[in-house]
Amino acid sequence: MDRKQFIKKFEHHFAGEPRLFRAPGRVNLIGEHTDYNDGFVFPMAIEFYTTVAIVPTRDRKLYIRSENMDELIAIDLDDNEERRNHWSDYVSGMAWALEKEGFRLPGASLLIESEVPVGAGLSSSAALEMASALALLSTVGGELDSQQLALLGQRAENQFVGMNCGIMDQFISVHGKKDHALFLDCRTLDYELVPLKADRVRIVICNTMVKHELGASEYNKRRAECEKGVELMSADYPGIKALRDVTLKQFEKVQHKLPEVVRRRCRHVITEDERTQASIAALNDEDLEEFGRLMNASHDSLRDDYEVSCKELDLMVDIARSQPGVLGARMTGGGFGGCTVNLIWADAVDDFVEDVAREYRESIGLQPAIYISVPSDGAHEWI
Ligand code: GLA
Repeated sequence: MDRKQFIKKFEHHFAGEPRLFRAPGRVNLIGEHTDYNDGFVFPMAIEFYTTVAIVPTRDRKLYIRSENMDELIAIDLDDNEERRNHWSDYVSGMAWALEKEGFRLPGASLLIESEVPVGAGLSSSAALEMASALALLSTVGGELDSQQLALLGQRAENQFVGMNCGIMDQFISVHGKKDHALFLDCRTLDYELVPLKADRVRIVICNTMVKHELGASEYNKRRAECEKGVELMSADYPGIKALRDVTLKQFEKVQHKLPEVVRRRCRHVITEDERTQASIAALNDEDLEEFGRLMNASHDSLRDDYEVSCKELDLMVDIARSQPGVLGARMTGGGFGGCTVNLIWADAVDDFVEDVAREYRESIGLQPAIYISVPSDGAHEWI
């Protein structure tokens, strides 16, 4: 996307000289369905950005145009308590959250365009929230630190949009850094930027091109099953607040007391937290093979214990694992469709892209999109 052209597009629809803000999507390397269990995640921001151009107005209305949707919607800030079940909910939800935080917004014209594929599990919604948050804040000259910004985005998504997500997506969209992945402790929000120079290996993202409807309801169900696990295990381990507090050893001692499904959900989260921490150690030791094995184990656990994969994701992972030069392959994000993430030796990537696309298409009749991304910078003003 070209900055000057984007400004021209803005001027075609609205008056005034806009400021531009961008925020990226993300891919999670490992640590899946752990964020809402106070655990660990290891995502990176990808080179796909959502851009928001904004000019303040004085009429307490948001005029929001999406280039992707080719649609304009007007939102009255004095009548903005409820979601509209519309793409604009992520923007008006951010406005709602900022106003709840005490920022009184004047109104604004906004033009939005996203490079993050929508519905692919690459956090197009968090990218839209974070770019909108910076844009809206600029109209009042307001400032929030990056952690507050991420938390406010999560609040908009939980309480306005109605998706009970954890903190990972908004956090990485704000804190991403070029050439680094981000190891986040979702309880304390302490994080470490871990160098991930794509010289020997590449991160390759394969889009299955499917998105199954069950996503949101199953997500909330998993959260409830995890909470049930904590409640039941607190009889033996008083004081535990989240699955993060239970070690694998402790879990193994009491797992027979848990109902079968709850037991498998807990086992996924507890082993995934261990894998995520081990993956950082592997990277520090430059042991990329071990990192890949941990990614593979993560997928198997998500498929068998957590049951958030689907046949298209499993197929994409199986095809990937049968290619030369692949260190690890797993689903990424919430699941039930969307993308896989693959760690591949750099010199094997060209063949991988061609062969995986062909084999997937021949098996299932869908042409997958395959993206190669280096870790990128988080949300910022585009100057
Ligand atoms: C979605 C949610 C995140 C996280 C992942 C699963 O992307 O938005 O908070 O829970 O699923 O790891």
